[in-house]
Amino acid sequence: MKPKVYVTRMVPQAGIDLLKEECEVEVNPEDRPLTREELLHNIKGKDGVLCLLTDRIDAEVYDTVPEIKGFANYAVGYDNIDVEEATRRGIPISNTPDVLTDATAEMAWALLFAVSRRVVESDSHMRSGQWPGWGPLQFLGGDLSGKTLGIVGAGRIGTAMALKSSGFKMEVLYYDTQSNPKLESSLNARKVELSELLAKSDFVSVHTPLLEETRHLFTLDTFKKMKPTAYLINTSRGPVIKEADLYTALQEEYIAGAGLDVYENEPELTPGMEKLKNIVITPHTASATVGARTAMATKAARNLLAMLKSQKAPDCVNPEVY
Ligand code: DGY
Repeated sequence: MKPKVYVTRMVPQAGIDLLKEECEVEVNPEDRPLTREELLHNIKGKDGVLCLLTDRIDAEVYDTVPEIKGFANYAVGYDNIDVEEATRRGIPISNTPDVLTDATAEMAWALLFAVSRRVVESDSHMRSGQWPGWGPLQFLGGDLSGKTLGIVGAGRIGTAMALKSSGFKMEVLYYDTQSNPKLESSLNARKVELSELLAKSDFVSVHTPLLEETRHLFTLDTFKKMKPTAYLINTSRGPVIKEADLYTALQEEYIAGAGLDVYENEPELTPGMEKLKNIVITPHTASATVGARTAMATKAARNLLAMLKSQKAPDCVNPEVY
């Protein structure tokens, strides 16, 4: 008998096709996250689940599927999953690293350009039909070449973001718990304390995973340490930034602007944020290229197939279970 798999929301077909070769596959037919009740109900009796960052996977979920062979998360971040509890119960969990690294780093650059060169604001101005013609003081933005880029969290995506700066001859600083020899040798990047990075960077790009230590790493105090001309970019996880404080910092112009792809309470925005002119906001789409999302789907499927055969999943985040 084929193993039974549940997919909590439609992902690119290539992943579904891979699963279908070996499993009975049920996919949430609605293009929206499952409610908690639906999640708990629909995964009952399944051998494996392909889940998303919008699904909270915790002890209550594990209780519902005591025989489950594993959960494959369709994301590199897995803060939606209680991995510690899964490990205690011997349940493997996987993620989708590498295949979205460039797409996410590119989006960080897209936000950086868009906010510092006021692309969205200028676009709206043009569409309004109010442009009076060229003017020397119109839409002045931030300078980029030769400026300082501060990377907070120099893992796979932070490293890729930093490496893409080489054409702009930027000075690169990074803050991480670990040294990054690749950044140091190829860009002459310097590992510094967060306070130094904040004080010296013209652009601060956030790439940390969401952990207890990184939750609200950025608060009003942090923004006050940044240059008033600096821009903040976040493509990691919303709760790394205390969003209400960021709103104040942007409104009071403690910093020049922000490019955001992630939010503290998705899909909600801090009220008033949508009216700020000095931000560019995108709907958690940093990995949303056809190539990256397709590769994420096949990667998640391959991980789940391995788990169903009781083999080590290639991207298992809790290998202690084996
Ligand atoms: C991830 O993979 O963690 C992103 O947030 C979604 O692609």
